[in-house]
Amino acid sequence: MKFLVIGGGGREHAIVWKLSRSRHVDKIYCTPGNAGISEIAECIDIATSDFDALLDFVKYEWVDLTIVGPEDPLSKGIVDAFEREGRRILGPNRKAAQLESSKVFAKDFMKRYGIPSAEYRTFSSYVHAEDYVRMKGTPIVIKADGLAAGKGVFVAANIDEAMKALKLIMKERIFGEAGDRVVVEECLAGEEASFMAFCDGKTLRPMASSQDHKRIFDGDKGPNTGGMGAYSPAPIVTKEMEAEVMEKVMWPVLRGLKAEGIVYKGVLYAGLMIRNGSPYVLEFNCRMGDPETQPVLSRMETDLADVAFAICDGKLSEMEMQWLPDASVCVVLASKGYPGNYEKGRAIKGLEDLKGRKDVQVFHAGTAFNNNSVVTSGGRVLGVTALGKDIRDARDKAYEAIEKIHFEGMHYRRDIAERALKRQ
Ligand SMILES: Nc1ncnc2c1ncn2[C@@H]1O[C@H](COP(=O)(O)OP(=O)(O)O)[C@@H](O)[C@H]1O
Ligand SMILES: [Mg+2]
Repeated sequence: MKFLVIGGGGREHAIVWKLSRSRHVDKIYCTPGNAGISEIAECIDIATSDFDALLDFVKYEWVDLTIVGPEDPLSKGIVDAFEREGRRILGPNRKAAQLESSKVFAKDFMKRYGIPSAEYRTFSSYVHAEDYVRMKGTPIVIKADGLAAGKGVFVAANIDEAMKALKLIMKERIFGEAGDRVVVEECLAGEEASFMAFCDGKTLRPMASSQDHKRIFDGDKGPNTGGMGAYSPAPIVTKEMEAEVMEKVMWPVLRGLKAEGIVYKGVLYAGLMIRNGSPYVLEFNCRMGDPETQPVLSRMETDLADVAFAICDGKLSEMEMQWLPDASVCVVLASKGYPGNYEKGRAIKGLEDLKGRKDVQVFHAGTAFNNNSVVTSGGRVLGVTALGKDIRDARDKAYEAIEKIHFEGMHYRRDIAERALKRQ
């Protein structure tokens, strides 16, 4: 079997790595990939927005199944384009992907189907939004409607911050048309968790639970990032909580979409706030999370190629999912300056020392080759991911492995998974 994976971050490295362990997979292509991915897949250079060129490639190379990592091509309809040509592709179509690509759509959808979420109003008029914020008071959360690369949400502690957020989105239009509308919602206190499930439009299979760390500095301080680390399982997602999320969130989403004539295939991700023991949805993503995918796929025993085929062919109900009882912790190593401006091209040392370790995988995110040596090429550079008998063991192994790695300006959090340890 031949696979094509679209994307080039840590999530995609984990997907390619997991596929490479399948006995059904003979060949994996990845576009654009990165230095780590190129060791187990053939990296090609086709723009992920050029659906025609991707389809040509898939036909010419007889690729059996394509897996889409990031949200952008999904929201632009890559799945619609592939399915029109009868090609297997893992991911939701454009309409289904609106759950992520429009926060207004997602909020209205949740309201229609009684899915627990923060109270909200949506606005396309700046003055009306301003009035509403003043009436509600703070803290309050302001969200640009469209995709904003994880930068479109402002949790405002006071009126000044709230007004500044509204101005940035609606007047200065820093996110362009993604800011034509805003969601203004109630600020929920609690603990966040990531809940992902495989879905073939009819059946759901929950993935192992996980939690990530979004802020750049220890103690959840500083600006938001794409994610500085993650671990699985999430102690807060007990068996009972999983059942509740399936019943109150995941199944209603599937049924609601079906009622509206939309089939959801791929991975459905609910970003949850667990408040007083009850789950509330902060957002949906229409693909796997990054970095949550790294620890979650590390624990997946079931063959990912089998699951991908089952989803595309509507046979997920025939699959039983198996997860390792071990815990997994992923610590992200970032470039100095991230999530702001950062330098690229720094040589990365120590990767060779960690090769061949069964319990440690170094997933590459922003890396490239420069004259045969691996250099940094992004804000998030590596995700050092370790398996252990429990969270503490996995965390210790991840940090011990990091001791071997070095690049100039390397920054990482020292407290990944602390939150989970406190809970145990
Ligand atoms: N209603 C809310 N109450 C409290 N915090 C929130 C709320 N909505 C979002 N957040 C915080 O903002 C972060 C980003 O919001 P989210 O809706 O996940 O958007 P995105 O991931 O697209 O940036 C969340 O992970 C959470 O920390
Ligand atoms: Mg989010």
